[in-house]
Amino acid sequence: MALVTTKEMFKKAYAGGYAIGAFNINNMEIIQAITEAAAEAKSPVILQVSAGARKYAKQEYLLALAHAAIKDSGIDLALHLDHGADFEICKACIDGGFTSVMIDGSHHSFEDNIALTKKVCDYAHERGVVVEGELGTLAGVEDDVVVEAGKELFTDPSQVEEFVSKTGVDSLAIAIGTSHGAYKFKPGTTPHLRFDILEEISKRIPEFPIVLHGASSVVPELVAEINACGGKLDDALGIPEEMLRKAASMAVCKINIDSDIRLAMTAGIRRVFKNSPEVFDPRGYLSVARDEVRKMVTHKINNVLGSANTL
Ligand code: G3H
Ligand code: 13P
Ligand code: ZN
Repeated sequence: MALVTTKEMFKKAYAGGYAIGAFNINNMEIIQAITEAAAEAKSPVILQVSAGARKYAKQEYLLALAHAAIKDSGIDLALHLDHGADFEICKACIDGGFTSVMIDGSHHSFEDNIALTKKVCDYAHERGVVVEGELGTLAGVEDDVVVEAGKELFTDPSQVEEFVSKTGVDSLAIAIGTSHGAYKFKPGTTPHLRFDILEEISKRIPEFPIVLHGASSVVPELVAEINACGGKLDDALGIPEEMLRKAASMAVCKINIDSDIRLAMTAGIRRVFKNSPEVFDPRGYLSVARDEVRKMVTHKINNVLGSANTL
């Protein structure tokens, strides 16, 4: 078992009409929860590392933990850089042993995005690493970049063929109305994704793996529990599960989930402190947080991604 690229995973997912979960990792408990859930469900999985996670946990720790998880779980894993902002961070991850990187040039002009993405692809491909690019911008916060709701730009389908052929990118993140964080839609509004754009893109680049960022469902039960235990997430709202299932059955092969991990951990920890205020051994609350993440990932694999029993 080893760290592998996403090439085979995406090929099988596209053909099978399901998607692979790409879960953000920041510490040992999260890595254990995701990989144990994936191994039990016989599902492929992607561990992804943001610039913030690299800063928080250090790349060496996350790499070592990913290798430990391969040994422990007995499954292959893909290790991916999430939202690489420039060539240097992509290079550092490629040189360090990641099997996949994202170069997020979506905030640049179309031409500059192509040039930057191609530079990363050339470097990565020579070393057997795959690359995700992005066209269109999502609302929300990713690392230090904040895009206000209403100022996001949906992906223009007429640009995708040129982008893919000129860059050599292996997968493409698109903007169809998802957004980062726990507040994806205004309360009282009807969640809406532009499936017409997804459809048009997949017609123009057939069998090409599409990536959906900002795809947490913001699980209502977890939000309710956090609020019942003293939290303040009143207007949190995510992508309805049936929309994610529909995307997974279409060209979307990778679904990014971070906020739901944060909610699962926070719900578990808040519950422990509410019910057992005497607890001060971190293992007392981190083990509960880990269990919550494991349950959430199992639910996603079985009921949202459709990736169970595909290994
Ligand atoms: O897309 C952003 C991810 O949720 C990562 O968040 O940069 O706070 O680690 P982070
Ligand atoms: P969420 O905030 O919806 O979990 O999105 C995570 C993401 O897209 C990471 O790149
Ligand atoms: Zn993202």
